[in-house]
Amino acid sequence: MLEICRSKDFADDLREFDLRGMPLPYSDGSFDDVICCGVFHLIGDLEPIFKEVFRVIKPGGIFAFNVLAQTSEKEGEVVSHSQGYSEIISDWNVPVFMHSGEYIEKLLQGSGFDRLKELKFLVRGLHEGIDDLACAYVTRRTVV
Ligand SMILES: C[S@@+](CC[C@H](N)C(=O)[O-])C[C@H]1O[C@@H](n2cnc3c(N)ncnc32)[C@H](O)[C@@H]1O
Repeated sequence: MLEICRSKDFADDLREFDLRGMPLPYSDGSFDDVICCGVFHLIGDLEPIFKEVFRVIKPGGIFAFNVLAQTSEKEGEVVSHSQGYSEIISDWNVPVFMHSGEYIEKLLQGSGFDRLKELKFLVRGLHEGIDDLACAYVTRRTVV
């Protein structure tokens, strides 16, 4: 993905980094806005990431991201984590996480983001031929 991005020649800086390890390799207030597309369904606990995004984004900056929504139809197949997300093995043998709306809401409030917009949409599913529900969020970092 980074190579494809590099070939388009518009990025000032590209770094490979495992989001399961913190802190992010950037100083406070480095970014006007932060976007994370199609990645959080591969990570369970998002709290350390949200706290770090708060640190590296400028006050008033936009934080936009999407997750796979936790739905009742997969109960029985999933391992539920008490924090508000569940885990399932996809058809391509990768653990995938689904986060509940309540979990995301709590994290946003606890990390200092106001939710501006939320949009539900369907994506290619974890099981062949069945779409899954995803949710995109647009939020703003508080100015305190
Ligand atoms: C479905 S792709 C989405 C890529 C890109 N954001 C897009 O929208 O086209 C998922 C990406 O998440 C990256 N990824 C998976 N686990 C990660 C982790 N723990 N830390 C950082 N990146 C991760 C993968 O390397 C892959 O590039």
